[in-house]
Amino acid sequence: MGLVVVTGGSRGLGYETARALKKAGHKVLLVAKDPERLASSAKTLGCEYRAVDLADIDAARATFQEILASFGTPEILVLAHGVMSEKMSKTLRTTNEEWRRVMAINLDSVFTAINILGAPMAEARNGRIVIYSACLGRMSGPGNAGGLAPYRISKAGVNALVRNMAHETGHGSRGLLVDAICPNHTRTDMGGPDAPLSVEEGADTAIWLATRAFDPAADKTGFLWEERRIIEW
Ligand SMILES: NC(=O)c1ccc[n+]([C@@H]2O[C@H](COP(=O)([O-])OP(=O)(O)OC[C@H]3O[C@@H](n4cnc5c(N)ncnc54)[C@H](OP(=O)(O)O)[C@@H]3O)[C@@H](O)[C@H]2O)c1
Repeated sequence: MGLVVVTGGSRGLGYETARALKKAGHKVLLVAKDPERLASSAKTLGCEYRAVDLADIDAARATFQEILASFGTPEILVLAHGVMSEKMSKTLRTTNEEWRRVMAINLDSVFTAINILGAPMAEARNGRIVIYSACLGRMSGPGNAGGLAPYRISKAGVNALVRNMAHETGHGSRGLLVDAICPNHTRTDMGGPDAPLSVEEGADTAIWLATRAFDPAADKTGFLWEERRIIEW
């Protein structure tokens, strides 16, 4: 089985996704920021790891390039890193620093990871990219309804990136699948202890997208998924 790279793999939904893919027999490499927590999580799972602050676009680019050079082209790329914006970050109350912090981590580094690792995956005609987005980034339903502006808008950007890239790569017809998921409110450091879903429930759709059988004539890629179903952007 091929290489899986999981960003945000040190804890929460990324860790659970990495755990399941490792259990399924993949070689897994974790990426996160805090070197000690990451080393400990990687040791528990028996994975490789690379620590980097994904807010730093140059460091992110260099790390993904080094991963490619050292480990080769991934078969599966799961982007599960992310930060919530400050509670009071309404558009008119958000500082430049807060806007840039959230955009850099939640959106810019998603582009960087895909730009570096997705290109050889597309060339290999064998790859799956799954990105943890959020229902708060939808343009419909409970989506962009005000508040948490940097977070919501960064995830709307992720959704747009997925849709745009799916068009660029032939909607799975050329062997590269790219999808966004909304895990729903899950008990992690970000979701908090009172969230209704366990990490197993929250990570289920991402794990399924990363491993499902795919027939380009019948199945769909390039969408936003929730509970294994396509939902409105
Ligand atoms: N939990 C929910 O209810 C929920 C709902 C909707 C969407 N989501 C999305 O699902 C994804 C995973 O969320 P989660 O709840 O598992 O979050 P979490 O428990 O807070 O974990 C966040 C992960 O992102 C990594 N990370 C954060 N900032 C980073 C940076 N600057 N550089 C590198 N890595 C960084 C963290 O690494 P360190 O350990 O090194 O800090 C950690 O591994 C996120 O994209 C989130 O927006 C979550």
